Amino acid sequence: MTSARDIRPRADDLAAQAQYLSTSPSASFHSPSSHGSALTRTVPLVNAKHLKPFATEDIKVLLLENVNQAGRDILKQQGYQVEFLKSSLPEDQLIEKIRDVHVIGIRSKTKLSARVLKEAKNLIVIGCFCIGTNQVDLQYAAEHGIAVFNSPFSNSRSVAELVIGEIICLARQLGDRSNEMHSGTWNKVSNKCWEIRGKTLGIVGYGHIGAQLSVLAESMGMSVIFYDVLNLMALGTARQVNTLEALLGEADFVTCHVPELPETKGMIGQKQFEQMKPGSYLINASRGTVVDIPALIEAMRSGKVAGAALDVYPNEPAGNGDYFNNELNTWGADLRSLKNLILTPHIGGSTEEAQSAIGVEVATALTRYVNEGTTLGAVNLPEVALRSLTIDEPSHARVVYIHKNIPGVLRKVNEILGDHNVDKQMTDSRGDVAYLMADISDVNSTQIKELYQSLESLNSRIMTRILY
Ligand SMILES: NC(=O)c1ccc[n+]([C@@H]2O[C@H](COP(=O)([O-])OP(=O)(O)OC[C@H]3O[C@@H](n4cnc5c(N)ncnc54)[C@H](O)[C@@H]3O)[C@@H](O)[C@H]2O)c1
Repeated sequence: MTSARDIRPRADDLAAQAQYLSTSPSASFHSPSSHGSALTRTVPLVNAKHLKPFATEDIKVLLLENVNQAGRDILKQQGYQVEFLKSSLPEDQLIEKIRDVHVIGIRSKTKLSARVLKEAKNLIVIGCFCIGTNQVDLQYAAEHGIAVFNSPFSNSRSVAELVIGEIICLARQLGDRSNEMHSGTWNKVSNKCWEIRGKTLGIVGYGHIGAQLSVLAESMGMSVIFYDVLNLMALGTARQVNTLEALLGEADFVTCHVPELPETKGMIGQKQFEQMKPGSYLINASRGTVVDIPALIEAMRSGKVAGAALDVYPNEPAGNGDYFNNELNTWGADLRSLKNLILTPHIGGSTEEAQSAIGVEVATALTRYVNEGTTLGAVNLPEVALRSLTIDEPSHARVVYIHKNIPGVLRKVNEILGDHNVDKQMTDSRGDVAYLMADISDVNSTQIKELYQSLESLNSRIMTRILY
């Protein structure tokens, strides 16, 4: 990845026009959010660093909730000013801190509501160093040109490994044997304990996790079949089946890896348990709503299902403690009373490796967005990317124009850009918000400033950034 720091305008060009130069695109050629003061970021700095217009030390980053070291290192290596706090902040302190920063990194505890974001006058991007993004008002952020990134797939391997462990544990009734030993009972049995070699694993949902699992299971000697709404390339000797019913009728172990959608709610219920092989096993490490738990309890009591592992539940507590009770889910006690049932507290993706991978993925996305304007992986803006500018293109500028998706915008924008040579351009929209990126060659800093001001004056404008 070539960072925008490497783009250096010609020294003679810059020296002549130093008074117009910004020290960074966020300080000068970067529009304030519509809720901020226009002056804070549009007045050129007189003490500009002439030979380094993109001064990364101007970018202020606030990292909360003990964001992983790997992610912190990436942001520091960019030269950004990084402030790191181990905990989240109460709302009043958060508002105080967020006023100043261009980038904020959080995990699941920090709530970035519209009330908080309204105060974030300089903010251009939010990094959620986790899977979920419901702690952020995504709509408000999009409408104010603030991109949001997360890391949905960094923990796929961790989930797949947990499922492999659970398949063996269920086949050998390890949970029960361990519990018995903990209470002093020696119970050496082989009845209905199996090797997993030669058994069939049925994967429901062959995405990031399902596909990883497919490879691991085959290497343990299992046959793999899968069901997915998409036609997908099977890995190894795995085989796609056409219906869920076909999968249930053939698999010794059924494991769910589908997203939470209206169509996947209760996807495994009474009818599906009836279609499963007698003495088969069920694993759910996807989302709690996918399996109808009262139906599972019945299927296990009747012996149809010989064992199950659940990592996710329809209602999950917000924190650690004594909360997995009937108040949370009415069937809690019935579930806990079952034999050969492994219950884990949504830890499928909770490993050191996954945390580190999340740190790297989100920090890299933030860096690319700040330096290059690339929105690939953004959860609230259209995904737009252009190939990087290089040091061989010293007088190029990259225009990022986040705007309202209203008729006639592109005509007006292209009238402004049309005075220059537009090397490449891409635009896309997502709901009411659109994102345009264009690389323009042979522009000097006066022209960049004019471009910036012309784009800022359009009534469609949400945020303009010019990277050069
Ligand atoms: N337990 C954990 O800690 C943990 C960690 C990460 C992810 N997850 C969950 O695991 C699930 C899978 O994650 P992923 O990263 O593999 O997702 P993914 O989006 O990569 O894959 C999901 C797959 O399910 C398929 N699918 C969608 N609807 C379907 C349907 N009705 N029937 C059959 N297939 C369907 C999709 O086509 C896709 O191939 C998600 O629910 C995710 O939230 C849990």
